[in-house]
Amino acid sequence: MCGIAGYIGYRKSLPVVLESLKRLEYRGYDSAGVAFFDQNGGVRLVKAKSRITGLEKKLNGFSAVEGSAVIGHTRWATHGAPNEKNAHPHSDCSGRIFIVHNGIIENYRSIKADLIKRGHQFISDTDTEAIPHLIEENLKSEKNFKKAFDAALGRLVGAYALAAFDVLSPKNIYIARLGSPLVVGLKKEECLVASDPGVLSGKFKKVIFLKDGQRGIINLNNSVFYPKSLEISRLDSDFKSAKLANFPYFMLQEIFESPEVIKSALQGRLLKNNVKLGGLEQVADKLKKIKRLKIIACGTSYYAGLLGECFFEELAGLPSEVFLASEWRYKKEPREPQTACVFISQSGETADTLAALRKAKKEKYLCLGVVNAVGSSIARETDAGVYNHAGPEIAVASTKAFISQAMVLILMALFLRQLKSKSIPNNIFEELDGLPDKIKSILKNHLRIKSLARKHLKRRNFLFLGRGYNYPAALEGALKLKEIAYVHAEGYAAGEMKHGPIALISKNFPTIAIAVRNNGTYEKILSNLEEIKSRGGPIIAVATQGDKLISKIAGDVFYIPAANSFLEPLLAVVPLQLFAYYFGTLLGYDVDKPRNLAKSVTVE
Ligand code: F6R
Repeated sequence: MCGIAGYIGYRKSLPVVLESLKRLEYRGYDSAGVAFFDQNGGVRLVKAKSRITGLEKKLNGFSAVEGSAVIGHTRWATHGAPNEKNAHPHSDCSGRIFIVHNGIIENYRSIKADLIKRGHQFISDTDTEAIPHLIEENLKSEKNFKKAFDAALGRLVGAYALAAFDVLSPKNIYIARLGSPLVVGLKKEECLVASDPGVLSGKFKKVIFLKDGQRGIINLNNSVFYPKSLEISRLDSDFKSAKLANFPYFMLQEIFESPEVIKSALQGRLLKNNVKLGGLEQVADKLKKIKRLKIIACGTSYYAGLLGECFFEELAGLPSEVFLASEWRYKKEPREPQTACVFISQSGETADTLAALRKAKKEKYLCLGVVNAVGSSIARETDAGVYNHAGPEIAVASTKAFISQAMVLILMALFLRQLKSKSIPNNIFEELDGLPDKIKSILKNHLRIKSLARKHLKRRNFLFLGRGYNYPAALEGALKLKEIAYVHAEGYAAGEMKHGPIALISKNFPTIAIAVRNNGTYEKILSNLEEIKSRGGPIIAVATQGDKLISKIAGDVFYIPAANSFLEPLLAVVPLQLFAYYFGTLLGYDVDKPRNLAKSVTVE
């Protein structure tokens, strides 16, 4: 996590870096800082235990020397508490070297211990601070800064994207990447380096995505990159920046974008009862030979993957298995023949998913991506894939991305079905087309969800239940409530409830159950709810319109339109997302930036 930015150019550098950091805030926002050459001829280091707006206030009245290096950072704490001391940039003992870093230096303890023995004084608890001191140490025997920088990087184990400057050469920024993303925009008399291509959009057409192990020195005249195999990419127009329009929070806006997100996922992909996925066509021959799928992702994307497993098995007849990327990347399993891996990621930068992808590539699996962020590492490194086209998701908690991921996975499953020369029943196309309107009808009722959240606002524990397709939706509902409202919530397969969690049920422990009709297990879930009711547990049910029975069991019911069973979770999850949103906002939290979280988890 963490976002880094560095700029050299003719424009006012501090505002450029601050603006870039604001765009990177989704990567972490517990503290921030910048280092720059100020008008008095020295380097100024300004940090704040705040978001970028707080840093901006502290910088009021300062300006950087035109054409000199400015580096900045927005932090998600890994090593050391979120405070000013640990905020980046970090420096060496002499104040010659300044550095911002995204990633984790795994061997920093031994490096730090060694440097302390040599007389270096550390002031922070971070892993990052080891780097400038290591460069400083190298400069004792090596006069050339670049060589000292390279030698320091040679000792680091872990992941980094970093930008540094040397006080003695104010017109250069030294950059390097290993594991964490870094992209440079270059044009005449201007360079901007950042963690995310979105920062460069609208400013730079030509960009360089640094590859792992690559480094560079950027400046106004002749930036150099080494080793040399760097490709210039065109930054395409998909990097839209999101604006808040008539909604108090991005989270609510993004939930309300769900109908549009489904339309964008479908656009141009349903042709005359055929599914057309340009991104997969190039590997269609390989896909025809595939007998199994592994789906690999983290968090909400993993829950979308659980849905994907059902879609691939039911719609395409392909046995599938879902893995948490953080587990799969270290799993010792035999390589499976005729198997493809599907990596799901909104950001396309999640460290564990990326590491799992690299492992899968080493093992020569065909690797497919379901990614929202265009041009992100996972999108670029997979063999083929399908973009979500959901537009930027700004709120830290994923909402519209889950829905679009599910939609894309359905399309992929139908595409794979076609490859097996199995036709797609007509009613499926009608159902897909009708989905946006069904979601709109749920959204119209959002104030009913608000009143349910208000009614249960004192509760600190919730059980979320679902079966079959709705089990992943229940997991997702529980995760949303935990991260947005800081309320304990557990998602469970409803049939498992009696194997343990039922012990928790009491009048203070409500259950939110997805009890929809087409699920194939409707009667079973009603029995589960009866079991809860008889133990005094309050029940809020998400049920199918027209269901007369459910209100006899559940104290509160929210009705959603009927749909084909595999589409039900896309409807059922919307009231659950709204419930978390209203719960969090009624408790007075900033739901777009929940504590301790970051949008893009680029560390292990
Ligand atoms: C939860 C959430 C996270 C992400 C997870 C994976 O609301 O947003 O659980 O889903 O960090 O992120 P991506 O999809 O970017 O790989």
